[in-house]
Amino acid sequence: MEHFAYQDGLLFCDGVSIAEVSQQYGTPIYIYSEHAIRDNFRAFSDAFAEVNPLICYALKANYSLAVCKILREEGAGFDIVSGGELFRALKAGADPKKICYAGVGKTRSEIEYALNSGILMFNVESGAELDRISAIASNLGTRADLALRLNPDVDPHTHKYTTTGKKWTKFGIGFDAAAGLVQRIKDMPLVHLVGLHVHLGSPINSPEPYRRALDLMLDFLESCREQGAQIEWLDVGGGYGIEYKGGETADLADFAQAIIPAVKRSGCRAILEPGRCIVGNAAVLVTRVQYVKETGEKKFVICDAGMNDLIRPALYDSYHRVWPVSSAEPVPYGAEALDAKTGGRVVVDIAGPVCESADFFAKDRPLPPVRQDDLLAVFSAGAYGYSMSSNYNSRPRACEVMISGGSARLIRPRESHEQMVADERF
Ligand code: LLP
Repeated sequence: MEHFAYQDGLLFCDGVSIAEVSQQYGTPIYIYSEHAIRDNFRAFSDAFAEVNPLICYALKANYSLAVCKILREEGAGFDIVSGGELFRALKAGADPKKICYAGVGKTRSEIEYALNSGILMFNVESGAELDRISAIASNLGTRADLALRLNPDVDPHTHKYTTTGKKWTKFGIGFDAAAGLVQRIKDMPLVHLVGLHVHLGSPINSPEPYRRALDLMLDFLESCREQGAQIEWLDVGGGYGIEYKGGETADLADFAQAIIPAVKRSGCRAILEPGRCIVGNAAVLVTRVQYVKETGEKKFVICDAGMNDLIRPALYDSYHRVWPVSSAEPVPYGAEALDAKTGGRVVVDIAGPVCESADFFAKDRPLPPVRQDDLLAVFSAGAYGYSMSSNYNSRPRACEVMISGGSARLIRPRESHEQMVADERF
């Protein structure tokens, strides 16, 4: 179902007018569809139902408590990467036995916190981390379950900054080193190797990298079992692509077809860690045009949202559809989006107010003519949007609104100037 759709020339989210919500709460504003979040989770869960995986939502994609609570209600566990994320997951009512903890830099206090919280397992990224977990488990007299995060040197064909499955990245452990750790774990009384983990990168638009990584993992799994390890979990990570432009990614059924047979062969229960595909297309960022500026060289549409609100275009050159909230035509799909010849479109750069030339949402983008005070919707903003936002240029963070059951509720008020400085001292 299309949760963000135009009716009579105006954008609606599940029957609620985006223009009215933006007027009521101000801009910039993130507007989420609860229905879309639930639908996306269910579609993901249905696609993999045959193997009944534990779905650990990667809350780095969107950590807002309201979002986490919705997913917890849907039965999700959580994939976390910091003590702060553990705190949020627990605050949202997560079952600790459905939490797995990845990340290359876990500190002592984070490990202690996780052990005391009774999480399902650590996804361990180095021998040094393994030693640290073992030492802390001994101190606390607590059992520590873990998976080894493998680095299979498989290319996910995504931006280099979000590639994690290649050897040149800091993530995971190569197979040879991992084989050595499997041996060492045998001498660690409180440490139990219960899983193997891989996360190749994000977003991944084809099932092939998963297929290749899983083949390699299954060979490794066999050798672990030959050494007596009792591996119960196969954690395939996240990364499942979504449509930003339209038509660029495989669909869930394709990913499932690559993953399910490997899970069955492994005899393990799968963990999947989707983030983006659950929340990415469940939100828009709405911004108000402040100025239309022509330089002779170019035409700029300057908005009240900036790279501090949504950094993805600046950081990864990523594509987000941007379209007026009031428009007779629906947002163009796929290649049409770059067609400047249709309907009197004007080619513009859509930029923010931040003092950096990287502060843009789109470059050379054909848009219907827009004017000062028009509202623009930046689509697919639910994942790595608010969660990567900052106060750069001392800009208060945007507010967040959830559309549920035909009405809007504020899930996070806009930050005030006072709040931005409240904990500072001279
Ligand atoms: N599991 C692990 C261990 C991860 O590191 C990540 C994402 C995920 C799961 C979830 O990946 P997803 O299903 O959401 O693609 N800021 C970048 C994406 C960074 C992803 C970091 N790790 C972006 O805006 O594209």
